[in-house]
Amino acid sequence: MQPPLLWPSEAIWEAVAPRLPGFTVEVLPEIDSTNTELMRRARAGSPDPVLLVAERQTAGRGRRGRGWVSSAGDSLTFSLGLPLAPAGWSGLSLAVGVAVAGALGPGITLKWPNDLWIEGRKLAGILVETATVAGLAADSDQALARYTIVGIGINIAPQPAMPGQDIAPAALREVWPQADAPGTLQRIALPLVQALQSFARDGFAPFEAAFAARDVLKGRSVSLSDGTTGTASGVDRSGALLVHTAAGLQLVSSSEVSVRPAS
Ligand code: BTN
Repeated sequence: MQPPLLWPSEAIWEAVAPRLPGFTVEVLPEIDSTNTELMRRARAGSPDPVLLVAERQTAGRGRRGRGWVSSAGDSLTFSLGLPLAPAGWSGLSLAVGVAVAGALGPGITLKWPNDLWIEGRKLAGILVETATVAGLAADSDQALARYTIVGIGINIAPQPAMPGQDIAPAALREVWPQADAPGTLQRIALPLVQALQSFARDGFAPFEAAFAARDVLKGRSVSLSDGTTGTASGVDRSGALLVHTAAGLQLVSSSEVSVRPAS
């Protein structure tokens, strides 16, 4: 049996609350999905900023309708919900990836649009969802505020390959041997909030260079889910993936397009 996890809720609250009035930290032993729970709360009219951590998710969700499977203690699963009013939304999940990878240190790469990798294996995934909440004020530039839910799942300890997969996912302990879920959350929480606030103010541009420095696809052959193949050439100012194909330069911006390095 794993020892109980000691979560640094107070330290995170002290660091974050001054920049995010009304912020709270909540740790639950179990829930279906932290993203689903924050979406339920938003739809019920509760748009308060909150960091919701679950030691175990019974119905974790990934992108494109997939599930997210993780085990208590061996992974970190949480969602940050807060009202945001950026001028545009594209590039948001890339900015989140930059913030999380930066907080966790070297050796971690970013795979467009929102995966963190170690040596070609997935370490973490990001699921960004938004909800319209009646009564959320627009900001001074009249940009529309939406309740934004940033869900992050990180493998802390090595885990076996999932059925149907050839290789096991990456784990944070490969690059940070002492990593545990609470310590990882403490490293990420404030940089994540700062990144979201910076994105709301200035968009993706301030994250462009840091994304490029960790961009694992750059210069590699890729295939898109529609069958197109080409060479990935970084991202543009809005975070769209640039792919040189036989038909010319293609900008891939849809989060519904999956991109794989071609084998
Ligand atoms: C992906 O790679 O497909 C995204 C995975 C996101 C998983 C996290 S775990 C915490 C939060 N709650 C969820 O149900 N999903 C996200």
